Amino acid sequence: MKFPPGFLDEIRNRVAISSVVGKRVQWDRRKSVPARGDFWACCPFHMEKTPSFHADDRKGRYYCFGCRQSGDIFTFLVEKEGFAFPEAVERLAQEAGLPMPKFTAAEEEREARRSTLYEVMEMAASFFEAQLQLPRGATARGYLADRGLPQAVQQHFRLGYAPDDRQALRSHLAEKNVTLEQMIEAGLVISGEDIPVAYDRFRDRVMFPIRDPRGKVIAFGGRALSDDAQAKYLNSPETPLFQKGRVLYNFDQARAAGHEQGTIIAVEGYMDVIAMVRAGFANTVAPLGTALTEHQLALLWRTAPEPILCFDGDAAGLKAAYRALDLALPLLKPGQSLRFALLSEDQDPDDLLKHEGAAAIKAVISSADAMIDVLWRRAIESNDRSTPERRAQFESELELEISRIGDGKVRLYYAAEVASRVKALLGGAAPPKRWRTAVAAFGSKLAVVTRRERNRKGWIVPRPWDYVQPVSMELKAMARKGQSRQAADRRERAILLAVINHPRLLDDFAEIFADLEFSARELDSLRRQIIDIAALEASLDAAILRDHLHRKGFGPLLERIDAQFQRLREWFVLPDAAVKDVRTGFRQMVALHRKTITLARELKAAETTLAEHPSDENLKNLNEIREQMRSAAGEEALIEGFGEDSGRPQSPVA
Ligand code: UTP
Ligand code: MN
Repeated sequence: MKFPPGFLDEIRNRVAISSVVGKRVQWDRRKSVPARGDFWACCPFHMEKTPSFHADDRKGRYYCFGCRQSGDIFTFLVEKEGFAFPEAVERLAQEAGLPMPKFTAAEEEREARRSTLYEVMEMAASFFEAQLQLPRGATARGYLADRGLPQAVQQHFRLGYAPDDRQALRSHLAEKNVTLEQMIEAGLVISGEDIPVAYDRFRDRVMFPIRDPRGKVIAFGGRALSDDAQAKYLNSPETPLFQKGRVLYNFDQARAAGHEQGTIIAVEGYMDVIAMVRAGFANTVAPLGTALTEHQLALLWRTAPEPILCFDGDAAGLKAAYRALDLALPLLKPGQSLRFALLSEDQDPDDLLKHEGAAAIKAVISSADAMIDVLWRRAIESNDRSTPERRAQFESELELEISRIGDGKVRLYYAAEVASRVKALLGGAAPPKRWRTAVAAFGSKLAVVTRRERNRKGWIVPRPWDYVQPVSMELKAMARKGQSRQAADRRERAILLAVINHPRLLDDFAEIFADLEFSARELDSLRRQIIDIAALEASLDAAILRDHLHRKGFGPLLERIDAQFQRLREWFVLPDAAVKDVRTGFRQMVALHRKTITLARELKAAETTLAEHPSDENLKNLNEIREQMRSAAGEEALIEGFGEDSGRPQSPVA
């Protein structure tokens, strides 16, 4: 839903951040200065004893110096109270005494339909709950009792029972004036051309309601009672309320617990979540029968810096862990990672709780492995290291994985750790360090190695930094090719336009965007303006962003940039490019940009330093920068399937 320009600002002007937040926290009297609109409290987003949460009425924003949560009146309601954004707007508009703007008939209708669907889902949830208590729910009650689930737990998760009857829910909802069309749209009833009588999707199953972050039921998972049912678990289909890749089971409750406990745990299934919660880990969620998606990962990271993924110890569990690893590698940041708790063979948390009790679960969680350990484990397991070629391959594969890490600093630390592990593992079979530095400095030039060999026979010993020259030449070559001012300028414009046309990019790339260095001053101030607007605007879309930019006087510049990119190879910056392609293209652009500007400058500085203070340390530094340049190039090459979603067969980005 889109609000007219200025509407949100008007609300912000009228409703003080301190009044919104003040309903939730106790202001610290000594530290706060109300006359200046300056308020301090213990942070409502994390546990603390001394106030580091600051609300500033003049800016209309809050910020916690401890956990770094920040936002405005709208985000506070969304993040803390679980409101959907439009609901937060409605609530605050009311508080501000502003009438809600009129929406188009189509928008109104879509919203109305969604809200009736919520009601329909709620009716279904209550229906299933009630059925569980009826005589025909006896088998299901018995099943849950056998699995050791006390009634209080069943009620807490609102477990229910879908009777073995093709019309039970359908007739129940019909009595409540729900139309067949709504039942179908909610995914509760199945119909089709070849189906004469529409019928209930869930039959003879124990029902697990799936809630959205506000606690509203948006879907169901159903566990079959009989062994010969087609699927052990059946989930709701995708509906206007439910996109399974964006939802985590139990997230609404786990989020608050996660803030308090400082971490959040993801397990594989519904029953596992319930077991974890019973074992004292209220901060547990599960994806819904699929591998973890990037969206779900983002949800986890929004709650805690190092979520713990808990998988079964079998082959499938390990595979799932490796998938998650691959998904997370490009997204690591300083302090942001994952941890992995692998259970023993063929056990899930549910079994573990039953057989060994809560203490066993606690032990598994507290001994979760770091990401680097899982990465290392995979490399060790999948590689034979019995010949020099295979050892080289082992090392190359590790290097390739490390090159996928998006954050430069994290990548460097991974490189350092992996290098020392390789050395420790291979011992005498690893190349001696001086060869390694020499080879790394000059790529795979055999000449270097042979010269070193000769040196061992007593020839004059060239120190590795005697070879710095070729690096300078490389830098010069680069200056001739991509580094020209013009190319950089063009790239900066493309990056800006991608963000302007697709502000959702900032959901994931805000920090990357904020860290970019633009050389053209005019473009850089546009970039900063976008960052400012994005920080204030919770529901940023292209129209709102452009509107803000026009008001800030960037109209003429925008027009020029738009015109320049109408028919060019950076088609992915255009408004109609597919989201996936936009993201890919954006990443590539940014990689290229960093490579040519930032890294070139760092390289130059490193060269100077090395020339002035020749040492292994400084040589290593230089090599690390070269490594980063290589991986920036690699990032572009690695991305596959580029352009498919926009109907383009191949990457048009040079
Ligand atoms: P599991 O097969 O590990 O189930 O699937 P579980 O959680 O141990 O279930 P119980 O203990 O036998 O009752 C893990 C998750 O994968 C999804 C479900 O979300 C399940 O919780 N799944 C599994 C399906 O969606 N469909 C299936 O047929 C099986
Ligand atoms: Mn199980």
